[in-house]
Amino acid sequence: MHVVILGSSAGGGLPQWNCRCPICSLARAEPGRVRPRTQSSIAVSADGESWLLVNASPDIRQQFNDTPALHPREGLRHSPMKAVLLTNGDVDHVAGLLTLRESQPYTLYATGGILGSVGDNRVFDVMAAGIVRRTAIRLDDPFEPVPGLSVTLFAVPGKVPLWLEEEAVELGAESETTVGAMIEAGGRRLAYIPGCARVTDGLKARIEGVDALLFDGTVLHDDDMIRAGVGTKTGWRMGHVPMRGEGGSIDALADVALGRRIFVHINNTNPVLVEESPERADVEAAGWTVAHDGLSLSL
Ligand code: MLT
Ligand code: MN
Ligand code: ZN
Repeated sequence: MHVVILGSSAGGGLPQWNCRCPICSLARAEPGRVRPRTQSSIAVSADGESWLLVNASPDIRQQFNDTPALHPREGLRHSPMKAVLLTNGDVDHVAGLLTLRESQPYTLYATGGILGSVGDNRVFDVMAAGIVRRTAIRLDDPFEPVPGLSVTLFAVPGKVPLWLEEEAVELGAESETTVGAMIEAGGRRLAYIPGCARVTDGLKARIEGVDALLFDGTVLHDDDMIRAGVGTKTGWRMGHVPMRGEGGSIDALADVALGRRIFVHINNTNPVLVEESPERADVEAAGWTVAHDGLSLSL
């Protein structure tokens, strides 16, 4: 299985267009100390020919241009990307669908709930009916989006997308709105979970033994955004489990047998983004990799 992390940052990217926090400022001034990163997306293939895009970020155009495996290969119009899968309806995971128009056939997969949010918004009709097929996937029901790749979606604790929030928001609900993807090829398994509010026993059992886990690395501590002075929301309020602190993912997953442990969907306020920082050293000492754009895995 070939895996390319196209974008390792959370919504906003790094640097975020309007942000002068220390980490965004470093990404502009000293990219050797903080690597700039694009928004959350990966590409996966069993054969290196047909690719599944998991989440379509607002930076998709740059990500495709930066990834030769995704360049057109034949005729005048072509893409090795044959299918797109969404793990939630967040802007950083769906806005790129607006770029994937231009009469290119592919299939869009998501749970009925996520597909419904996309379908309710007419701007997404730029993915023309008859060219882009939309297929609803049931949880725990394996499907084959591209040859040789088997994918199973499962619910993880989360919440509705920010743009669909009403006055009362249910936090940590396990439903179709936030899912993880178990991706299998040739006996190898990848678990991709870019958004997750809490590590549960069910989740641990689900991912036990995978060859690689790509997991929600939005915040280091629940109050990262508050510490950085850029907001009032906790990780929990945003649907993201912290790496460290109470309920932190590093400790919660420490006793689960996993191949590689890689943080993705990293918010620009997370101190682990700073190379050679004590925070980066701490998560690496715990066995985790902090993803950067273009990081590839062969499983
Ligand atoms: C998130 O991951 O929490 C969302 O991407 C936030 C957002 O939609 O801006
Ligand atoms: Mn996000
Ligand atoms: Zn910032």
